[in-house]
Amino acid sequence: MRTPNHAADVAEVLLAEDAIRAKVAELGARLSADYAGKPLVLVSVMKGSLPFMADLMRAMTIPLQIDLMEVSSYGGATTETSGLVRILKDLSASIEGKDVLIVEDIIDTGLTLNYLVRYLRGKNPASLRICTLLDKPARRIVEIPIDYRGFQIPDRFVVGYGLDYGEHYRNLPYIGVLKPEVYGAG
Ligand code: PRP
Repeated sequence: MRTPNHAADVAEVLLAEDAIRAKVAELGARLSADYAGKPLVLVSVMKGSLPFMADLMRAMTIPLQIDLMEVSSYGGATTETSGLVRILKDLSASIEGKDVLIVEDIIDTGLTLNYLVRYLRGKNPASLRICTLLDKPARRIVEIPIDYRGFQIPDRFVVGYGLDYGEHYRNLPYIGVLKPEVYGAG
């Protein structure tokens, strides 16, 4: 992978900072109403969901707990999904009897969430729902019931606001489309 250059490598801004901010505020308000009075645990699926998780939890006004998992479905700097899901970091506390909301940055093939939902259901939460910032339905292999969705996006290679290519671009404050020549498709 060549040295990343944020300004030069992004073809266009798909979702600007203010659009993301407004959507996160809207989701936070909905979630605060829906989970009022419930023992809520937000489970962030790292690393991609970190910025979304950090902003979403602060957009929520109800008491809640957080936990972090790290899973991996993509191998290094490839753009294709292997179908293999590995748990790199597990939950640090029991979710039994808790209302659990999985917080994801993107649902693409659905393979990661398909695995994770079955894994977390086995831990007997009171409820289990999914909140994703981005939904890319064109690439879906497994159907996933999405309870809270930020944006539906086209089948473009997106980076930023947590999303990476080869572990870079995660710190862009917006979501941009990567130029095909950057990932060797141009
Ligand atoms: C990304 C994303 C989801 C998953 C979605 O994670 O955060 O977890 O891929 O893809 P899928 O629907 O095709 O399974 P990735 O494995 O790239 O790890 P990261 O969050 O550390 O970037």
